[in-house]
Amino acid sequence: MVYAVLVKNVEFDYGTFSLRDVSMALREGEQKALLGPNGSGKTTLLRLILGLLRPSSGEISVLGIPVIPENFWQVRQRVGYLFQNPQDQLFAPTVWEDVAFGPRNLGLCDDEVEQRVQWALDIVEMSDLAYRPVNKLSHGQAKRAALAGVIAMRPQILFLDEPFTGLDFRMVRNMVDIVDRLRSDGGVSVLFTTHNRFFVENWAESVVVMDAGRVVFDGPVEDALADERVRSVIGDWESLRREMRSPDCVAERRRYG
Ligand SMILES: Nc1ncnc2c1ncn2[C@@H]1O[C@H](COP(=O)(O)OP(=O)(O)OP(=O)(O)O)[C@@H](O)[C@H]1O
Ligand SMILES: [Mg+2]
Repeated sequence: MVYAVLVKNVEFDYGTFSLRDVSMALREGEQKALLGPNGSGKTTLLRLILGLLRPSSGEISVLGIPVIPENFWQVRQRVGYLFQNPQDQLFAPTVWEDVAFGPRNLGLCDDEVEQRVQWALDIVEMSDLAYRPVNKLSHGQAKRAALAGVIAMRPQILFLDEPFTGLDFRMVRNMVDIVDRLRSDGGVSVLFTTHNRFFVENWAESVVVMDAGRVVFDGPVEDALADERVRSVIGDWESLRREMRSPDCVAERRRYG
């Protein structure tokens, strides 16, 4: 079986933080949530899979292609990566130029580049901001511009690092629609990170959970929600709500308010 992503016994060390014996799989066409506390290694794992970081041992493949420096371009053509912070991925003078960068790099002709840019900007509802300098965008606009750049490459796999943070509800809906459409039309496989239980329960088929640089769970979403380690990562929002609404807590807030 060819996996969209296969990670086997990967080790990696920044010096101050390390990933230990990390294994996980993303099946073709699957939509998987990557969970874990802040600093548990989620973004590091995505960067390893993309070949932006090199593991000290273990194996990683993308659609059967080993992720090694010689295959860097082949991997990047297949995987679209929406960064956690969109401003880290925008660098061209304008939104239009930024979205055009990827398709140009694919060697497409000018007409095709133009078509792809228009298509991607329409989808994320950014056509009216096409000539805005990228450093003058609001956070949500920057995220949409970055997403346009990613989908303009028509990748087979999408890595979405906290795709919903900072988006208004309409744009959350839009993001869900875009990804759902890419999946149903093109069978795109998706790995997304989130801290939000709602998206785990309603949008993921399976879940991989990291804690302190290790994978502590990889399996279907139904099993994940029944797993104590997963529940502790997702958090007990109901008990937090009860505490915040408790008479003691409300009185305390009034005193400081
Ligand atoms: N370039 C780097 N050099 C050294 N340490 C780093 C580097 N990037 C990240 N780290 C450290 O590695 C650990 C894992 O970081 P990572 O960004 O992968 O976490 P994360 O799970 O994505 O967290 P979050 O939920 O906050 O996005 C953190 O302790 C972080 O400080
Ligand atoms: Mg992260």
